[in-house]
Amino acid sequence: MQHNENIVWHDHHVTREERSNMKQQTPCILWFTGLSGSGKSTIANAVENLLFQRQKHTYLLDGDNVRHGLNKGLTFSEMDRIENIRRVGEVAKLFSDAGLIVITAFISPFESDRNMIREMSRAGEFIEVFIDAPLATCEQRDPKGLYKKARAGEIKDFTGISSPYEAPSTAEVHIINDNISIEDAAQHVIDYLEQNNYI
Ligand code: ADX
Repeated sequence: MQHNENIVWHDHHVTREERSNMKQQTPCILWFTGLSGSGKSTIANAVENLLFQRQKHTYLLDGDNVRHGLNKGLTFSEMDRIENIRRVGEVAKLFSDAGLIVITAFISPFESDRNMIREMSRAGEFIEVFIDAPLATCEQRDPKGLYKKARAGEIKDFTGISSPYEAPSTAEVHIINDNISIEDAAQHVIDYLEQNNYI
């Protein structure tokens, strides 16, 4: 084939806007926060399923999984939790820049860390989702048996027992996850995205 010298390579920079237009969605970070056992991961998964059904492009970052890979080796000391959240925030921002609706499910107990991610995000990009379940309820559910161990002194720095949880004061979505179905909880998040024209 003959090379056509009149066609020049156009150095086209694909913008964030073009990526999100192609996906027909406004990228954002749905930042779930709440105690261990509050239902963050379960509701986050349900939200991702609902978005997938609508052909939206998503990615879920979950504390338990990320701590096996990217954040392997980080402990639950205050310093390591801060680093855990900082890295997740950076990854979430990159994925959002790629045009995705990013869902993160981390305890993220410190308000200053969550606010740090909010501040480094674009306007409207960071959506805080507070999964609010009383400590007693989480402890009663104890899906992984960790509260029992924490009470027995076998796990140190356990959120809610021997390490603090700072509830959000400015969450965009506040779900009281006590006597509410997973479907209804997930729908609240979808409603927020719809009402604010993300999807
Ligand atoms: S965070 O505080 O740094 O945001 P992250 O969400 O990554 O926590 O991890 C929390 C998960 O790790 C919990 O759901 C639980 O399964 C497990 N875990 C193990 N040790 C602890 C601990 N000391 N405090 C809280 N969760 C712990």
